[in-house]
Amino acid sequence: MSATSKDAPTGDQLDAMSRDELVQLGTNLDDVEIIYREPRYPVEGTKAEKRSERVVAFWFVLSGLAAIAGFALFIWNNWEFTMPNQDGYWAYTYYTPALGVSFGVAILSFGFGVIQLTKRFIPAEISVQQRHDGPSEPADQKTLAAELDDALQTSTLPRRKMILGSAAFGLGSLTLAGGVAAIGGFIKNPWADKKDDLWQSGWSQIHNPATDPNETVFLRRDTGNPYQVALVRPEDLDAGAMETVFPWRVSDGYGETEESRHKLLSGLRSVRNPVMLIRLRAADSERVIKRRGQESFNYGDYYAYTKVCSHLGCPTSLYEQRTNRILCPCHQSQFDALEFAKPVFGPAARALAQLPITVNNQGYMIANTAINGGDFIEPVGPAFWERKS
Ligand code: FES
Repeated sequence: MSATSKDAPTGDQLDAMSRDELVQLGTNLDDVEIIYREPRYPVEGTKAEKRSERVVAFWFVLSGLAAIAGFALFIWNNWEFTMPNQDGYWAYTYYTPALGVSFGVAILSFGFGVIQLTKRFIPAEISVQQRHDGPSEPADQKTLAAELDDALQTSTLPRRKMILGSAAFGLGSLTLAGGVAAIGGFIKNPWADKKDDLWQSGWSQIHNPATDPNETVFLRRDTGNPYQVALVRPEDLDAGAMETVFPWRVSDGYGETEESRHKLLSGLRSVRNPVMLIRLRAADSERVIKRRGQESFNYGDYYAYTKVCSHLGCPTSLYEQRTNRILCPCHQSQFDALEFAKPVFGPAARALAQLPITVNNQGYMIANTAINGGDFIEPVGPAFWERKS
């Protein structure tokens, strides 16, 4: 039961009370009955107490070191796509797992530290309190503050410099590492030194000076063997089906040379290349709403959208035939394939970029080079920097 204005002490009386008296008053007013309360270390400076202190400090320091490792990896590790025969391949391969492990260890260690601190230093106590309704009276608020202060003092934390120092180190490093992970991608423009790459994907002909602007870019499927080239024809897809395709051109070769193997592999691995090729059912096709400026991007019932989610770049790997929705598994964004893949649910705010496609005179599906050189006309993925530039 909370204190009523009738039985509550006046402001002057409250100000005159010591912390212990306020704690006692608070427990009385709140109908709290302390059944058992015992400090963990009634005698100061024992070996057991010192050992407990070191255990808590160990977890906090481990947390801080892991956070710093994650911070360093985030800033300095090689994050750009690297082929197996290039320098930095292993660093690139283990970039994401190493980040996950370091941040995971940092957070878990800090959590263990807090648990150990609670178990080893907060007084053991069993209290029983009756529930009551309504807002708290001023006396309740004041006594609660005293109780919290009492909890802090009786935990003996204020005099434990090792624990305070290690906790500050762990928490500070965690905050730094968490902050850099959250906003790091917004600080440095990755395209600042190479403007030509701004719009470039493997589908590009006109934006990539290394390719022949007149060469055909075919739609290729991933068979599991990067050196096997399997091209897509319209009849390969049933109505309502979806297939992931990648760019391939004749000059990429068939894996007969080192350079060709490099091109074949990077065609499959480059982050901007995966595209969902969707064949709509005839009845659904009639309901399509096209985006202005993209009226001729499709080939009949076939529509091609980037697989890179416009929210945070996860692969939008799921296509639900019944609702014509494209789903991103990361944060559950949904895109309507009948309406230029515009977002209809979840955090994504932009439509998935659409690739212009057609069929060549041999019956293979190709990027439509008559439109923007056969490339997307807008950036794929979150595109923070691309849209700012
Ligand atoms: S990355 Fe797709 S919804 Fe977040």
